[in-house]
Amino acid sequence: RPLVTSVPLAALGASLGFSLLAFISSIYLVPALGPSFIKAGLKGRDLLKASNADIPESMGLICASIYILLLILFIPFAFSRFLVESYNGEGLSRMNFPLAQLSVYLSSILSLLMATLLGFIDDVFDVRWRHKLPIPLVAAIPLLLVYWAEGGNTHIVVPKFLRFIFGTVVNLGPLYYFYMSLLSTFSTNSINILAGINGLEVSQTLIIALSVCLNDALYLPWPKEFTIHIPVPSFLANIIGDRWTWTIGGIYGAGLAHGSKELVERHMLSLYFMLPLIGVCLGFMYHNWYPARSFPGDTFCYFSGMAFAVVGIQGHFSKTLLLFFIPQIFNFLLSCPQLFGLVPCPRHRVPRVDLKTSLLYPSVTKFEKSPNQLTQLVLKIFSALRFIRIERDAKTGKIISATNFTILNCVLVNVGPMTERTLVCVIMSVQVFSSFCAFAIRYGLAGLVYDG
Ligand code: UD1
Ligand code: MG
Repeated sequence: RPLVTSVPLAALGASLGFSLLAFISSIYLVPALGPSFIKAGLKGRDLLKASNADIPESMGLICASIYILLLILFIPFAFSRFLVESYNGEGLSRMNFPLAQLSVYLSSILSLLMATLLGFIDDVFDVRWRHKLPIPLVAAIPLLLVYWAEGGNTHIVVPKFLRFIFGTVVNLGPLYYFYMSLLSTFSTNSINILAGINGLEVSQTLIIALSVCLNDALYLPWPKEFTIHIPVPSFLANIIGDRWTWTIGGIYGAGLAHGSKELVERHMLSLYFMLPLIGVCLGFMYHNWYPARSFPGDTFCYFSGMAFAVVGIQGHFSKTLLLFFIPQIFNFLLSCPQLFGLVPCPRHRVPRVDLKTSLLYPSVTKFEKSPNQLTQLVLKIFSALRFIRIERDAKTGKIISATNFTILNCVLVNVGPMTERTLVCVIMSVQVFSSFCAFAIRYGLAGLVYDG
């Protein structure tokens, strides 16, 4: 295979154009279609506002439709090089056509469609946990088969300090596939349970997507000297010269990929999936930001989560991807006692609002009867770690309530009451900070536990 030495700029430019289209479409379509959603019964009430107004829910369906339609329209552009070569009669492009890459693309779209369907069903029917958990596992099968057909790697490099037991690399085999299918379940559900305040679902998606794009950019073989010429209008030319030249000398160097065709292709594919997601999120965020005029619904959480699973698996960087999910992993681990029935889990765990001051306070789960030994132990450990706050009966000393086990309540327990807008900004900052940490761990600390 020939070595790719430059970024396919035409396709990248087209992808940026499609992202702009995604942004404009969601800015326009979300409010335009909202009333039809309300009419169809797809509506919710903002739990943290005084108003009882109906707000259109499941607007993620519009986002997912725009996103998936644009991804389908983009297919000819992703393979434009082959179409152009074939048109010009250069070589036998049709025979060289990368059908394997096309199947990667199509299987990704298939998984996204299944996730959207599942999310929408969840919005309409409120599916039970145990019923909806296995569906993303099935939705991941096309991805896994394509991963296998591509000669997918199931080896993991063992950290230096464990090598005396396991050796340098371990082949996880089928376990690796199991792990990847769990990834799709995790990414879809973890966004859904870190939700409930205006702008939260969409802002976390946006920050993760931006982080993935930045990570992809590191692998592209940017030219060593990247020069941008900016023409200067004639009336300014006398003062500042007739053109400005901006050269980024070798900062991006040869990229981490060192021109490897597979790596560049994988990260380009990831960009093709992430850029329109960013467009759609930015457009939707405008309507979902405090005070929200539309809600994302489970549809949004599922399709965006699946988009991440898709790029992580198809791009062969699922472990790096998980590093961008640190707040979601923390929120999931924190939620486990409630998700797995140790502590009662109310239908909504979002913080409670004081309508007079508009400040949010941690919401609580009450114990009807005294919690058993194991639950008490968990409650004590979690409250000692300041993840939750427990309340005891003044007379008997028995635990009567605990704050709900989510990162939102955890922030409120430790920092004190704040407004909904401040809380979403705090969580966004945590997400940005953890992305910084993710890059530091991946490209800094990894050198300490792995070779080079
Ligand atoms: C998940 C959470 C639940 C949380 C809910 C909020 C778990 C196990 N489940 O449930 O604790 O309360 O998400 O989304 O953690 N809403 C707002 N403001 C918003 C967004 C949503 O008030 O900015 C409310 C609306 O009433 C909306 C409802 O949340 O109708 C949507 O909840 P839904 O997505 O159906 O909840 P789950 O995903 O089942
Ligand atoms: Mg939800």
